[in-house]
Amino acid sequence: MENRNQTPEREQWGSKIGFILAASGSAVGLGNLWKFPYMAGKNGGGAFVLVYFIILFLVGFTLMLGEIVLGRHTQLNAIGAYRKIRKNWAWVGGLGVLAGFLILSFYSVVGGWVINYIIKSVTGGLYSSDPKVLGNIFNDLVSSTMTPIFYHAIFMVLTFIIVLGGIGGGIEKASKIMMPALFIMIVIIAIRSMTLPGGVEGIKYLLVPDFSKINMDVILNALGQVFFSLSLGMGCMITYGSYLNKDTNIPQSAAIIPLVDTGIALLAGLAVLPAVFAFGFEPEAGPGLIFVTLPAVFSQMPLGGLFAFMFFLLVLFAALTSSISMLEVCVAYVVDEWKWNRKFTTILISLAIFIMGVPASLSMGPWSHITILPGKGFFDTYDYITSNILLPLGGLLLCIFIGWIWGIDQAVKEATNNGTLKFSLAPMWGVLIKYVGPIAILIVFIRSFI
Ligand code: PHE
Repeated sequence: MENRNQTPEREQWGSKIGFILAASGSAVGLGNLWKFPYMAGKNGGGAFVLVYFIILFLVGFTLMLGEIVLGRHTQLNAIGAYRKIRKNWAWVGGLGVLAGFLILSFYSVVGGWVINYIIKSVTGGLYSSDPKVLGNIFNDLVSSTMTPIFYHAIFMVLTFIIVLGGIGGGIEKASKIMMPALFIMIVIIAIRSMTLPGGVEGIKYLLVPDFSKINMDVILNALGQVFFSLSLGMGCMITYGSYLNKDTNIPQSAAIIPLVDTGIALLAGLAVLPAVFAFGFEPEAGPGLIFVTLPAVFSQMPLGGLFAFMFFLLVLFAALTSSISMLEVCVAYVVDEWKWNRKFTTILISLAIFIMGVPASLSMGPWSHITILPGKGFFDTYDYITSNILLPLGGLLLCIFIGWIWGIDQAVKEATNNGTLKFSLAPMWGVLIKYVGPIAILIVFIRSFI
């Protein structure tokens, strides 16, 4: 393993596909498999999906490209990247590191639930198609005191073990195995779910928009979800981009990653929502949705126990390829800027994130009466502050930074490898990042606070 303290050379991805898989691995995670289906369920189904697509097209690709270009140009962590170009912008990267820290602290709690479900699927603890029984199993888990904290700790340990392995040996290797397996699995499960009697209703719910359901809340939630799902607005893609070599085709990668991410989110929606309707669950059920509906689907399948096991294992993989990217953002900053030892930094930050996550876990049970923001406990507050505020804010500032401070010409020069690559969408991208992105984010922002 390489120790970046002793080797001034910065590590790089081993291959182009390695980077795409790692960056898609960061994007594809609990945001797609767990959050997207229940966000769609809560925000009017097809209406949400439509708004999601519009935002994805306008700001998703734009920012993805912007972040990767900034990262590769500076070859630095999120804070260092801003600082290198304009000193007094470093705090924007700082907001990102903070967001990564906060997201991982509740993300890891959910990751812990997933580990617990893997074990349950082996011991037969999920074998029921009764919504009530499955709902109780989930509630019992998340509302207990010690069990979810214990699994949250295990998830953080797994995360830091991979990050300790470094870029090529840890992050890239893990993503190369886990991402293809996940894809195959989710396709099989979506097919089973869609062919359940009554499942068609779920497909309609997800894909046919009811325009009357679109309101400001739905739009803000969709905006937050685009950022969260694409790992944007917090310097994650800046950091991953910083490990790229100078001849990668960035515009191409920046287009592939959102496509993979959205494809998997839709597949997850198609795996979950048809089952919701087939078994008479509520689509608005919230964070418990995949934990109660999918076991019901599995119980209707031959070899259901095996499927449940494989599925939750893959959800764990997807979650890990994302959690490592969040941890890497924090670690890269401290190692680059403070020159700390990578191993020590990784362990220390993981511990801090674990501690930060404990109240999030407790807020699902013993601390459910404590509210931080109106009507929101620790868990929901972390989620709201990051997805709906910090990430869009980070994205807004990134657009302004690239469009108006660093300058489109510089950015395009980097994106095209000094003009050697063809990037015919460059003029459109310039308009998107300079005007459309910031204005769209600002409007949603301002409207949601008044
Ligand atoms: N994109 C990840 C997911 O969908 C979550 C994430 C957010 C990862 C921000 C990194 C940065 O689960």
